[in-house]
Amino acid sequence: MSNQAAWLYGPNQLFRVGSAPMHEIESHEILVETYSIAINPIDWKVRDYGWLINTWPMVLGCDVSGVVTEVGNSVHNFSKGDRVIGHAVSLVSQKPKNGAFQHFVAVEAAKAAKIPSALSFSDACVVPLALDTAATGLFNSASDGYLGLEWPTMGSKSDNNKIVIYGGSSSVGALAIQLAAASGAHVIAVASRRNFDFCRSCGAHEVLDYNEPTIVNDVVNAIKVAPQTHFAGIYDAISQEDSYNITVPILAQIGSGNLATVLPGPSTVPSTSKTNYVEGINDTVHRLWENFVGPALERGTLKCVPSAYVVGSGLESIEKGLEINKKGVSARKVVVEIKKEQIASGCN
Ligand SMILES: NC(=O)c1ccc[n+]([C@@H]2O[C@H](COP(=O)([O-])OP(=O)(O)OC[C@H]3O[C@@H](n4cnc5c(N)ncnc54)[C@H](OP(=O)(O)O)[C@@H]3O)[C@@H](O)[C@H]2O)c1
Repeated sequence: MSNQAAWLYGPNQLFRVGSAPMHEIESHEILVETYSIAINPIDWKVRDYGWLINTWPMVLGCDVSGVVTEVGNSVHNFSKGDRVIGHAVSLVSQKPKNGAFQHFVAVEAAKAAKIPSALSFSDACVVPLALDTAATGLFNSASDGYLGLEWPTMGSKSDNNKIVIYGGSSSVGALAIQLAAASGAHVIAVASRRNFDFCRSCGAHEVLDYNEPTIVNDVVNAIKVAPQTHFAGIYDAISQEDSYNITVPILAQIGSGNLATVLPGPSTVPSTSKTNYVEGINDTVHRLWENFVGPALERGTLKCVPSAYVVGSGLESIEKGLEINKKGVSARKVVVEIKKEQIASGCN
């Protein structure tokens, strides 16, 4: 067996496909043969600006699906041959072996889950980074500026929390809607009207259009219905000036609720709110990978959304994938198929 990777040699360069070592895994890792990868905005941001990377060349890529080929000594929940998704973390580890854009990637077992046999690798790979990013903001403590929701369980739940997911049709937003709904919260999503049905299919109880000039009041009124509920706050899955012009005034009018952001936060928030920036690669949501992701995918409680938009095959297509993502997508996730899955055929 040999390995190949899409190497990035520095900021503002093109990927170069070339040979890579066959990685030695650490005891907490699994080696995954890559079948599909998903593209995220951070991939082209790192390519264009060199953010986060201390050592070049590097292998980027956060979302991988494939088949386990090696299992670390201290890993007991995976075996060779398992079909899995994993969150690849080279942006934090600074090790090329942990980037998804290669044929064999070392994945932390605590950031991986088995996937059902009926789920294709391309459909499944849309989940990992968005899941970790959504969960970190939703379930970490409100005293730290996050939203402090209950952890989701496999049974259906309903609690007293109400939450707004701003940017519900984005990749992170769609996972945030699903996880917040699975935790039992009442979810108000904000998205373009064309994506209302999509947000409802993820579990949103209400959806409002951010293009309406009345959006701040629309959301405030929706929060104020059933005042006995606890307003946890807003997960801002867009976190740009446009969105802060909406999310911060909502918090000011309500007079409570935190703001979790996926990019650096607004310059100020009301004194009644706390805010915190979500780092999608962290170790605070491992319990979700361990207890929830696999069974929830199996039962269809967790859907692989936004749906995969396969733009090419092979490591050479990754550059094209980054360009398509950079131009902007709406309720879909750019995916590149790295290896074709052989579908077992019957006897006839
Ligand atoms: N901090 C972290 O660890 C972390 C992790 C992952 C992502 N991120 C960041 O999170 C952001 C979202 O990433 P993603 O992959 O989820 O994005 P994405 O799927 O590419 O986002 C596309 C969606 O954004 C929506 N959108 C665009 N502008 C909007 C606005 N002004 N208001 C409301 N919705 C808007 C669009 O909605 P409509 O089509 O409905 O209009 C579209 O569906 C990126 O900046 C990314 O870098 C951060």
